[in-house]
Amino acid sequence: MKILVIGGAGYIGSHVAREFLDSGDSVTVFDDLSSGMRENLFPEAHFIEGSIMDYAALKAALSAGYDAAVHLAAFKAAGESMVAPGKYATNNIAGTVNILNACVETGCKALVFSSSAAVYGEPRYLPIDEKHPTEPENFYGFTKLEIERVLSWYDRLTGLRYAALRYFNAAGYDEAGRVKGVERNPANLIPVVMEAAAGMRGELQVFGDDYETKDGTGVRDYVHVSDLAKAHVASLRRIVGTGESLTVNLGSEEGLSVMEIVEAARRLTGSPIPVKVVARRPGDPAKLVASSALARETLGWKAERSGLDSIVRTTWEQYRRARGIS
Ligand code: WQD
Repeated sequence: MKILVIGGAGYIGSHVAREFLDSGDSVTVFDDLSSGMRENLFPEAHFIEGSIMDYAALKAALSAGYDAAVHLAAFKAAGESMVAPGKYATNNIAGTVNILNACVETGCKALVFSSSAAVYGEPRYLPIDEKHPTEPENFYGFTKLEIERVLSWYDRLTGLRYAALRYFNAAGYDEAGRVKGVERNPANLIPVVMEAAAGMRGELQVFGDDYETKDGTGVRDYVHVSDLAKAHVASLRRIVGTGESLTVNLGSEEGLSVMEIVEAARRLTGSPIPVKVVARRPGDPAKLVASSALARETLGWKAERSGLDSIVRTTWEQYRRARGIS
């Protein structure tokens, strides 16, 4: 298939572009390089530098005739979304509406959309399945949920088919080291732990150790980015094959605590990784774990590389390569 990967120079987008290329699809990356990186582009993929806020540029790109678009060009910092809602509304909502309209106008009939576990908010029960109430606790999650609602209307009114993929905590890097960049100014746990291991920061701040979890620190469902990438390919094939849209969770179904990540990183990097326990981060739930039963049933997908060691090891190897650590 001929696919436009919007945001394909970013962390998840580059892994997704790689997976489509490996599956024999033709890939063009559309990215404004605001957080995406040129070094994440693959020679086999075409590249168009452009922003989803530029409707003419989007439409011109899609006018070349695509079977599908994959949209990963969103801002994703939940904390920032609470202090800069306009930035998130404009890019994540208005920018996505631009993509949908350009798809409809140019005859592109399928879209894979990066949604998020943030659509659920504070868990009412665990593991979280797709029937769990959607009550986002942050504006970022709201933007994702709002687009899911728009997608469901566009499906009915225009025939655009979509897969809304609700990622849990994306982590890890391509095993073979084919994705070159590491994220700038990371705020997520695993990159921050890596920076502490690499001596790029003095310590890891652990946001609370008095949660009702196995060791008191926050528990999350970390899913390897290459597992996520495979789900994009499978879900696109599925919606095109069945003519039905799809909304699914993508998680490993395993809960890992902050300290389990730190212990694994100490073991795998040989670095002491000093930690300091500080106050809880506002808005952080104690525990988030997915049920991925629906993805298993509909896509035949399950997380295969998302074990603790695989996630920490592939990230550390990436930091060593990218930062020249011996
Ligand atoms: C994980 C755990 C922290 C940093 C975020 C977004 C979410 C989604 C994924 C995109 C928590 C703890 C973290 C640190 C720490 N994004 N932590 N010290 O908050 O689960 O999810 O990314 O879709 O919308 O909110 O991920 O990696 O920030 O935190 O102790 O320096 O690590 O408290 O328990 P989070 P995270």
